[in-house]
Amino acid sequence: MADQDIKDVVKDKYARAALRVTAGDGSSCCGPASSRGECDPITSRIYTEGETAELPAEARAASLGCGNPTALAELAPGETVLDLGSGGGIDVLLTAKRVGPTGWAYGLDMTDEMLALARENQRKAGATNVEFLKGEIEQIPLPSGSVDVIISNCVINLSADKDRVLAEAFRVLKPGGRLAVSDVVVRGPIPAQIRRSVELWIGCVAGALEEQEYRDKLARAGFEAVDVEPTRIYRVEDAREFLEGAGLDVAAIAPQVDGKFMSAFVRARKPAR
Ligand SMILES: C[S@@+](CC[C@H](N)C(=O)[O-])C[C@H]1O[C@@H](n2cnc3c(N)ncnc32)[C@H](O)[C@@H]1O
Repeated sequence: MADQDIKDVVKDKYARAALRVTAGDGSSCCGPASSRGECDPITSRIYTEGETAELPAEARAASLGCGNPTALAELAPGETVLDLGSGGGIDVLLTAKRVGPTGWAYGLDMTDEMLALARENQRKAGATNVEFLKGEIEQIPLPSGSVDVIISNCVINLSADKDRVLAEAFRVLKPGGRLAVSDVVVRGPIPAQIRRSVELWIGCVAGALEEQEYRDKLARAGFEAVDVEPTRIYRVEDAREFLEGAGLDVAAIAPQVDGKFMSAFVRARKPAR
């Protein structure tokens, strides 16, 4: 699929997800397995109730991430933070609380319906240190060296040009700035057809990076202190129904799937000079 086609598929998928939430038809269980009427093991239960209790219900319902970057990123009051692919805004609103009135939280998303939902959630939350920007993570509409921390929640795996995303993240960070993102990561080599089927189950339209590949790309973009920490490891049982539906012999492929796909917290730093 060409890069632009991938982007159109992603935009369409998340526009529909946003409209479902706006129509009161969404829940936090709206990931890949929602067609079966269940909470999927990727997007569900990633925040504690205490963390999100004060957020608008629609911000919680639109949560489509696979981790909790604001809890792990050690955000400090006064910092400027950018969320790549901010969706309905849940991590931006959580960030706004963490950085306080002297800090600033930007959300960046390319899907109009998600931006409309996020701005409505901002209004309901009464957050004044927040701005949602329209744009693509491959071309971030912010000046170089303007951001302390970049967070993101399950979005980089959707991009067909991950080198570009990482180069842009590096550009907009201040010297010494941190990248602290949740993303889907693959561990080790996996046959292409099996990999593609599991990625479709997870919802990775463009494909997840293999762990070492992720580390190498970050280093090539200029980052240092790279760390990839698994936060949720997927078992073959989680995807059994989907994989059987795709015509795969799950018992036969289990050793190549079980424990190889994970949500991970990826950290890296832009050198101070
Ligand atoms: C999986 S959802 C995650 C949303 C949010 N981070 C969360 O945790 O709920 C992906 C979001 O990223 C946006 N997105 C995907 N690819 C993008 C790109 N290349 N540029 C900007 N936004 C993108 C989509 O529109 C969607 O809102």
